[in-house]
Parts: sequence; C-alpha cells; structure tokens
Amino acid sequence: MSDRTFYITTPIYYVNGAPHIGHAYTTTAADAIARYHRLAGRPAFFLTGTDEHGQKVLEAARARGMEPKAHCDDMVVRWKAMMAELDIRYDRFIRTTDPDHVAVVQGVLQRLHAKGELYKDTYTGWYSTAAERFWTEKDLVDGKCPDTGQPVVQITETNWFFKMSAYQDRLRAHIEAHPGFIQPASRRNEILGFLRKPLGDLCISRPKSRMGWGIELPFDRDFVTYVWFDALLNYLTGAGYQPDGRFDDSGRWPPDFQLLGKDILTTHSVYWITMLMALELPLPRTLFAHGWWTADGVKMSKSLGNTIDVLLLKEAYGLDATRYFLLREIAFGADGSFSYSGFQTRYNNDLANDFGNLAHRASSMTHKWMGGTVPALGPLGPLEQELRERTTATVRAVDEHLRALAFQQALEAVGALVRAGNKYIEETQPWALNKQGDTERLGTVLRHVLEICRVTGALYGFVMPTACGTLLERLGEPDLGTVFRDVQRRAEAAVFPLDALREGAPLEMGDPLFPRFRELPSVIAERLAPRETPAPPEKKKKKKKKKAMKPTISYEDFARLDLRAGRVVRASKHPNADRLLVLQVDIGEPKPRQIVAGIAGRYAPEELEGAAVVVVANLAPAKLRGVTSEGMLLAAGAKEVVDLVRVDAAPGVVVR
Ligand code: MSP
Repeated sequence: MSDRTFYITTPIYYVNGAPHIGHAYTTTAADAIARYHRLAGRPAFFLTGTDEHGQKVLEAARARGMEPKAHCDDMVVRWKAMMAELDIRYDRFIRTTDPDHVAVVQGVLQRLHAKGELYKDTYTGWYSTAAERFWTEKDLVDGKCPDTGQPVVQITETNWFFKMSAYQDRLRAHIEAHPGFIQPASRRNEILGFLRKPLGDLCISRPKSRMGWGIELPFDRDFVTYVWFDALLNYLTGAGYQPDGRFDDSGRWPPDFQLLGKDILTTHSVYWITMLMALELPLPRTLFAHGWWTADGVKMSKSLGNTIDVLLLKEAYGLDATRYFLLREIAFGADGSFSYSGFQTRYNNDLANDFGNLAHRASSMTHKWMGGTVPALGPLGPLEQELRERTTATVRAVDEHLRALAFQQALEAVGALVRAGNKYIEETQPWALNKQGDTERLGTVLRHVLEICRVTGALYGFVMPTACGTLLERLGEPDLGTVFRDVQRRAEAAVFPLDALREGAPLEMGDPLFPRFRELPSVIAERLAPRETPAPPEKKKKKKKKKAMKPTISYEDFARLDLRAGRVVRASKHPNADRLLVLQVDIGEPKPRQIVAGIAGRYAPEELEGAAVVVVANLAPAKLRGVTSEGMLLAAGAKEVVDLVRVDAAPGVVVR
C-alpha cells in the first residue's frame, strides 16, 4: 500500500429518516479501513455526510411541518450522533447544503454548460420519489419503480440534460480494461450487461415550479439541479475540488475506494463516472458495491417496523462487538440476514470463547503462577516455531485481504490465530507445567500466549479499537498504532519474533473483555417480546413405522442426567479405532473434557472444531480402546450417527 493519502468515501445519506444498521454498515466499513491505514502510519481521508436536497427530503420536512433546511439541520444532529456512538472517525462530514459544495456544483454546471455538455429538452417519464429519478415505461416493474417497488407518477416537463450517451463507449472500455474498477466482479458484470443497451442522456434538473429544494442552475435560474447530480459531486468537494475546476493542494483525488450499497451502483458507475469523464478528471480506483442487510430475511423498512437499531446492539453487547459483527458476519459484497440469535452466537463464539478467553487465560495464568509480570523466554520448541510462522502468515494475510476490502477473511485470519493460541495452551498444558514446577517452560509458554494476545489485539484494532486498546494497555503497551506498526515490521522478517513484550513488566488483570451471554440481553429480549408470534400449527404427521419405544421413566430418572452445552475445542482420530474420534470439549470448566465418540464414520476431525454440542456431563468415565472418555455427546441416529445434537448456547449452560 502506498504512502499517498488513502481517500475513501461512503454514500451521503438521505436525511428523511433515522439511521439504521444498513447506514451504519457502510460507514463502519469505511471507518475500519481508514483506521487500518492510519494504524499502519499512512495518512487517510475519510469522507461521509448527508444528502439533503430533493423531493424525498422536502416531503419529509413537510410531513414534520418544517422548512427543509431546518429539518436537515435537525436530522444531521441524529446522523452525527449515530456516528459518534459508533466511534466513526471521519475527516469530513459533508452536507450538500454546505456553501463550499453549493459553489462546486454551480462551478461544475457552469463549466459543463460552457463546454456544450448540457442541453435543454422536453421529456416525458415516470418519476419515482423514492429513488429520486425518472424511469422509462419499459423500466417499470408492475407499473412501479424497479429499484424501490414504490409508485411512480408520469411527468412531462422541460429540463436540462447531460450528454451522458456520448460517454457510453469510453465507460465500457474503462470497465473492461480495469477488472478491479467495479467490485465485486458480479456487480461489474451487471454494469457491463447494462451498458450493452444504448445509454440515454441524464436529466439533471428540476423546474423550481415543481420542486425548488436544490441548487440553482447558474445559467437558468428557473431550475435547480437533480439530487443525484448534486449529491455525487460531494466526493469532489470533499477532495478539495474548487468551483474553478482546480484542486487544493491536499493531493487527495482520486478516491482509492468508494463504498456504496448495491442499490446505487448504476448511479455511481454510470452517472458519476461519465460526469467525471466530461470534467476530464482522473477516475476513482475502485467502486465497491456491498450487499444488503435484511432483518431475518425480510427487507427492512420503517413501515414494517423491522429496522435494526445498531445503537441497541451497542447498548447490549458493546461497540466493539457491534462493529466486529457487521464486518465479520457476511462477506463484503454479499447480502446478509440479521438475527439477534445469530449476533449472539457470533459474539459468544468468536469474542467471548475465543478472543476474550485467550486474553483472560493469558493474564490469569500469568498472575496465578508467574507473579503477574511478563515472563522470560526460555528455549523454543517446534510448537513455538509453528506459532511464529503462523503469526507471520496471518499479518501478511490480513494485509492482503484488506487491500481487497475482504473484511470477513481478514477477521477470520486473525480469529484463526486466536484459535491457534488457545490450541497452543491445550497442547502445552501450562497447568501441568506448573504442577511439575517447570518454571522455565511455563514462562516460555505463557510468554508466547501473551505475545499472541499482543499481535491479535493489534490486528483486530481497526475493527475493535476500544477492547484492543484495553487489552494492549493491560499488556503494558498503551499505543495501538505503535504496536500495530511493530507487528507489521516483524511480519516482514521471515519468521515473526514473538519477543516484543518487556520482560518483567507488570500485567494488569482486569475483567473479561467480552463476557459470555447465556440469555439474550434484556434490552434485546424486551424489543423482541412484542413481535413473538405463536408457532405455526403442526403439519399432519405422516404415519411412519417407529422403533419400539423404551419403557417409561420417571422425571426423577431423567433429572439425574446432567446435560450441558459444549463446544468442541479440538478433535483427532482415535489412535486405535477407526470409528472413534477423541474430542476435547469445553463445557465451561477450567479444562476441556476429553470425550471419545463413535462418529468417525460421519465426521472428519477438522469439521468438528468449534462445533456446538450437547454433553452428558455426569456419565461415569470409561476407557474406550485405551483412551479415557469423560462423558458422551448427544447425537441423532440409532446405529449410524445422522447428526449431532447442537445447541446455540455458551459452554456449560444446562440443557434440560
Ligand atoms: N443519498 C443517496 C446516496 C447518494 S451518494 C452520492 C442514498 N442515500 S440512502 O440514505 O438511501 O443511503 C444509501 C446507502 O445506505 C446504501 O447505498 C448503503 O450504503 C446503505 N444502506 C441503506 N440500507 C441498507 C441495508 N439494508 N443494508 C446495507 N446497506 C444499506 O441512497
């Protein structure tokens, strides 16, 4: 990545409603990548803001009995508050009503007009207020706006047009010559498909007599600009573009990444890019269209009342977890369905059980057995060597993935290193080393675990700044950026030296960074309660031959079973039996349970790592072909196992 200022933008948001998870998503992604660059010591400029002109905003203002500007001023406070709550570090929050933007738009209009790029014509089309654009008859789907499904009205009026059609071939050639220009590739193909049909010209004005809430055309004062023409130019204003067509000396232009939802891909890749071509300006490097969040598979809308409020998630699980979930849960570019239980599972698995647990284990063992200070490194063995190689590979992989905005893969790479850290603890068994009094080896092991906490804390920092800052502070490293840059430097070496912490430095203990949730937090449960619907009536059961049932038992008999939710930490083949696997299962006890299960015919050991299971925890231990089993897994299937019984609950939760 270069040393030039990294310039990233989000769409500017309409101020006709309250922000929700979708808006937070784009903004968090941009914030995260800008932070990543800043942590690495590269300057970044992150632009976001609000789109304030046009009919939609005007109608929202009228509905509140307010003047449009007063309405916008009021709404902007909410948007900025949402961003502050999410700790969004933008460099400029632009409003399309900002005077410098108005001047840029008028300057652009004036120059395009002088160049002969604009003409006046009378046009009949179908207008969608929801999408703020005209459609032709054949674009409509069931007589409605194809983008929003909202009603359209037929309007005939005289307007100003931009000769967009003149740029069709150049635009297509540019997209074809630059495979990374529109990402992901599926979206690029969509636009190339769109460009196979003839491209029309773009209507860029509205007569003031119909809709006056906009920026006046400097050469025809009866008109204001069309909201999209005005809004797209914000990216130039934000980059220091001047009304006379020159840039200030910030050197920001062109943007490295422009993030947008897939809903506004055409406006960006066609309208925006041809506008830039007409202005003879360098084009952005990448337009990245991400996917759409739905609420449990249903499109979010104010009328359905199913919009997901990120601030509620923050209240329940904290800021870091909320940011992490948004970027880890779905691949950037793909669609995703939000559910509260999905959130909690991701939180408990990745943050409470993996990352938080690693940090907590590291500091509690060091406090218990090594006096709470950073232990010295003794001789290194093959496990330490492997950990070092893995760390080098992880730091490099994160960087690679983030060049392509593959947040999910980058975070998964860090997660894998966290899991390797936890696995290293299982393999080296510090509790046994402590018992044996092998202080030198114990110190080396705990030091490696602490070092892995340092590296993963630094790598996760762009997404979870607060928790990672706290973790590093506890390790005696108060500055995230310094650690991050050190981690990157170390990764440049062939093998990552895991010896950065200061030997003898005191470690702070502190509360768990991500406490486990056994139930949904009450703020979430309360929100969900009114929406709970009765289960659908059971379908008529088909008669099926059933196996003879076992004799009835009393409740007391059943209650003697101690069933617990568990999570497979590690799985391996049984040394002496093909049908058996040996599992280490976390059931909320200090050490995982070893369970031998007859499931090798159904599962490979790698498939089981991380699996949520149900364990019979009070079964008398038994030796199965020479390996002790301290419990049993619940599974479906009489002779052959069909599936494991899985339960979405933190390890140790009682199953009854
Ligand atoms: N004002 C225009 C954009 C002009 S950019 C020059 C606009 N605004 S919007 O308020 O509707 O916000 C659109 C953006 O919000 C989407 O492109 C996307 O980035 C984000 N999202 C809004 N809802 C979303 C989901 N449900 N899921 C994911 N992101 C979505 O369009």
